[in-house]
Amino acid sequence: MLTYDTANATGTGEWKEAYAKAQEFVAKLTIDEKADMVTGQPGPCVGNIVAIPRLGFPGLCLQDGPLAIRVADYASVFAAGVTVASTWDRDLLYERGYAMGQEFKAKGAHVALSPVAGPLGRSAYAGRNWEGFAADPYLTGVAMEKTIRGHQDAGVQATPKHFIGNEQETQRNPTYNPNGTLTDVIQEALSSNIDDRTMHELYLWPFANAVRAQAASFMCAYQRLNGSYACENSKALNGLLKEELGFQGYVMSDWGGTHSGVSSIEGGLDMNMPGGLGAYGKTPGVGSFFGKNVTYAVNNGTVDESRVDDMIIRIMTPYYWLGQDEDYPEVDPSSADLNTFSPRSTWIREFNLTGERSRDVRGDHAELIRKLAAEATVLLKNEKQALPLKAPKNIAIFGNDAGENTMGAVNEATFEFGNLAAGGGSGTGRFTYLVSPLEAIKTRAKEDDALVQYFLNNTQIATNNVTDLWVPATPDACLVFLKTWAEEGADREHLTVDYNGNEVVESVAKSCNNTIVITHSSGINVLPWANHPNVTAILAAHYPGQEAGNSIVDVLYGDVNPAGHLPYTIAKNATDYNAPPTTELSTDGTHDWQSWFDEKLEIDYRYFDAKNISVQYEFGFGLSYTTFSISDINAEQVAESIPSIPEDQPIQPGGNPALWETIYNVTVAVTNSGDVKGATVPQLYVTFPDSTPEGTPPKQLRGFEKVSLAPGESRTVGFELMRRDLSYWDIVSQKWLVPEGEFVLSVGFSSRDLKEVAKITPVSV
Ligand code: NOJ
Repeated sequence: MLTYDTANATGTGEWKEAYAKAQEFVAKLTIDEKADMVTGQPGPCVGNIVAIPRLGFPGLCLQDGPLAIRVADYASVFAAGVTVASTWDRDLLYERGYAMGQEFKAKGAHVALSPVAGPLGRSAYAGRNWEGFAADPYLTGVAMEKTIRGHQDAGVQATPKHFIGNEQETQRNPTYNPNGTLTDVIQEALSSNIDDRTMHELYLWPFANAVRAQAASFMCAYQRLNGSYACENSKALNGLLKEELGFQGYVMSDWGGTHSGVSSIEGGLDMNMPGGLGAYGKTPGVGSFFGKNVTYAVNNGTVDESRVDDMIIRIMTPYYWLGQDEDYPEVDPSSADLNTFSPRSTWIREFNLTGERSRDVRGDHAELIRKLAAEATVLLKNEKQALPLKAPKNIAIFGNDAGENTMGAVNEATFEFGNLAAGGGSGTGRFTYLVSPLEAIKTRAKEDDALVQYFLNNTQIATNNVTDLWVPATPDACLVFLKTWAEEGADREHLTVDYNGNEVVESVAKSCNNTIVITHSSGINVLPWANHPNVTAILAAHYPGQEAGNSIVDVLYGDVNPAGHLPYTIAKNATDYNAPPTTELSTDGTHDWQSWFDEKLEIDYRYFDAKNISVQYEFGFGLSYTTFSISDINAEQVAESIPSIPEDQPIQPGGNPALWETIYNVTVAVTNSGDVKGATVPQLYVTFPDSTPEGTPPKQLRGFEKVSLAPGESRTVGFELMRRDLSYWDIVSQKWLVPEGEFVLSVGFSSRDLKEVAKITPVSV
């Protein structure tokens, strides 16, 4: 579909009443007020829409981000997206989304700039993968849906971001001439060039779940998409998002991601962030392509006023739908104090901050955060029954990740010493406290009157014989804590752990035959010591949030039986990964930054499977302190008839409702065959029939369910396959089609540990 038509909201389904209220609201606005409604202003929050007191509208406060309300005091820092994705636990994903939503609301934020499905994880190196969930659209899609419903059930608007193709940080924005005006571009931002099928089957997929979950707003991405900026890309915003997926909310730009006025408005952008005064360029430092320019454009007929009305209806419908017009908490003035993005000195408009300052909004969320990160911990290796620990009397702790952070409440790349529990940039959080692993282990080890020795300087550990460090004998357990930093604005330079982490492990493992390695990492690390005989256990804890130490102690001592599974693949070598980011150019043309998504559907396990590459730990992998078995697969067609082409039903949020209908039910029996209680995640992968067009990955995740079982207990687990799950995107008919022939459904405990197989051929009558 080539489209430049603007797609107006129509107020479908549950949004009908709110839509009518939004229409009434718009009818009362002057043209200048309309311009205000679609243009941000510097103010107390990261994004601000000014109040219209005569209509009782208090304005909108928009706050980052995907793991915490960032610009706030007395707020919780939750586990990162990649961490919660590792739980594969629908309930926990929802509970986290809800608890976060409560904190945003209690601080007076109307809009949470969360969650993230772009980056999806095309490249292992991308700096922001940890803000998102998994290198797989299905798992990410479920995580988006649960998180959004959580946020919005708590009363705050969710903002899935960054739409779309935001798969690397390098050159995400244009390079400007430092001596020129704000429009003086030396090189335009990178263009993510994505073909239609890949767009639908990988990158758009989780955003479709987001629309279906009734997300209030979408944030368009910084970079270009197939040549045009994502925030003025009519095909993406009007075509894919508003028409095909039936999105009824509003699209806001990423901060500074608006590169035109009229074209963006016509291209589907509804709100310019962070905005500022118009006209662009005439007011240095506070320029905006929107603002006063919107008034001019309407007055001189360049933009139809009905389009501006639609922008505002889209903004106000979710506001009314979520009841934000009734008794919504006021913005906490402390946010303004902490806001370095638009400090008070930059404010042009008036903000009346009469709310109570420094409200503590954390409630009892610490408990949930502790649980989330413990449940998310992925046990990658466990030999010689190293874990759980059995009341060790002599423990040695190694690594600069183990101890207290000594340099501040918001992590930065330069913090050498201290536990790394969140990454950097707008997706981080301000810790009110952080329980370090060292602190938590010391507390716990007291119960056993244990000796706890610690060595936190990686250089010291890597360059010394550790037998010279510890007394009196080889420790019962050597716990090595390693960290890997990642942040917004930069891609990772390598996939190894930071601060000589590999040498630290080698040095400890040389002398300690019970070396247990724990990583706090943004995601993918290659682990060259994984098969070292003295490395008895490996735990990937990712970014756990404020209860880091307690969460890992719960797992180490067996109070929580680890049930995390990898949301990406750990390859044997860094060079094994596909789709590296575009990090440098040999030419200097304005439009030369191009990233061709030539690998198409072959990212992460789809690639390793297609090329038959052996890996260290595959997508979906994760051990437990118990063992499980799977048996008795059964697949049943539940739709009476499954024709290849879906019925054309009227578009609802999420797209054609026919795509979301369950057409097969699959069940398996899962048994805990070990002797402790534990949870596992049976996963269903689909192999498409041979008739599916070339380039279809060998298998794709299309179902998972976490199940907790007592020793010896057996339970039936069900997977509902929807029409979309058994379809491919046909670029000719522009439809999701169910291919003809036999599908293979495989269920197991990871993408390469498949235990049961069922073959199905959909019947059409
Ligand atoms: C830019 C980031 O890309 C986006 O995720 C964030 O919400 C805004 N800055 C506001 O901080």
